[in-house]
This record gives sequence, structure tokens and C-alpha cells, in this order.
Amino acid sequence: MKQININTIISVLTVKELSQVELDLKDQAFEARSKAYAPYSKFTVGAAILLDNGIVVQGSNQENAAYTSGLCAERVAIFYAGATYPDAKIVKMFITASPQNRELKDPIPPCGSCRQAIAEYEFKQDVPIEIYFMGAVGDIYKSESLKNLLPLIFDKNHL
Ligand code: THU
Repeated sequence: MKQININTIISVLTVKELSQVELDLKDQAFEARSKAYAPYSKFTVGAAILLDNGIVVQGSNQENAAYTSGLCAERVAIFYAGATYPDAKIVKMFITASPQNRELKDPIPPCGSCRQAIAEYEFKQDVPIEIYFMGAVGDIYKSESLKNLLPLIFDKNHL
């Protein structure tokens, strides 16, 4: 039997290793998380996206009494960016996630649906999107491209 071995690379950073641009984006992600509407899960997520025009777009998870009508922070942010600045390229995305009642130390990765949504924009712009994610405190995981988070990606080339 033939097998395919898929490797990926994630960098593990401390806050002290972030550049000023990355620190500012982190602050924006935390600000976004403070605006999450998560009355059902009480799990708050914030995302901040830096565009190549210098604008930062924020998103937070928006829940709904009809649970499946809610949306993750990452997609709120990236759909807003796509709808508002369709010609801008996404440079970096910073994500922070934690339950309301405690400070998560583990880096929280974007869910599969959000990875697929981010992938669409990475293919559209043909430039890798740097993705940073963390809990409320602790280490930050950094991926140089969405592709590192989603092996065997489905994209427009398969249609
Ligand atoms: N959530 C996000 O905002 N992003 C993710 O990538 C995973 C989950 C939200 C959805 C829901 O409001 C809450 O976290 C619990 O799943």
C-alpha cells in the first residue's frame, strides 16, 4: 500500500517575540473578542485582519438562538474584509479565543469551516496569509500560510 505523508510547520512564539505590527494586531483581536456575542456557548473569539492598505478589520463570534445561524469570528472578519475591501490583500490574521469565565492558555486554531473560508481568499489573492492564534494568555502559534493548516485543500482548481 502506498501512503502519503503530510507534514506541516507551525511556529510557536511568545508575546515577546512579536513585532510591533503583530502586537498591534493582537490588541485588535483582543478588542474584537471583547465584543463577541456568545450568550449560548460563553466561548468568545476575536479575529483581526491586517490588509495591505493598512486597514485592520475586526470580527467576533456572533451566536444565535437558532444555533447554526451563528457565525465564527474568523468568518465574520474575513467576509467583512472581502465585502468592504474587495481589492485589498490580506496580510495577517490574528485570532484569540477563550471561555468567558477563565483564561485559556492553549492556542485555539480556527475551525475547519473557517479554514476553508480563509483558503478561498488566499487563493483569490495568490499571496499567503499569515495566521496567528492563541488562547487568552500564553504562547502564540503562527502559520505562514493557510495551506499549512489545511492539507489536501479543496479549491477552485478542483471544479
Ligand atoms: N468559534 C469561532 O468563532 N471560531 C472558531 O474557529 C471556532 C468556534 C465560535 C463559534 C461559537 O460561537 C463558539 O466559538 C463555540 O463554538
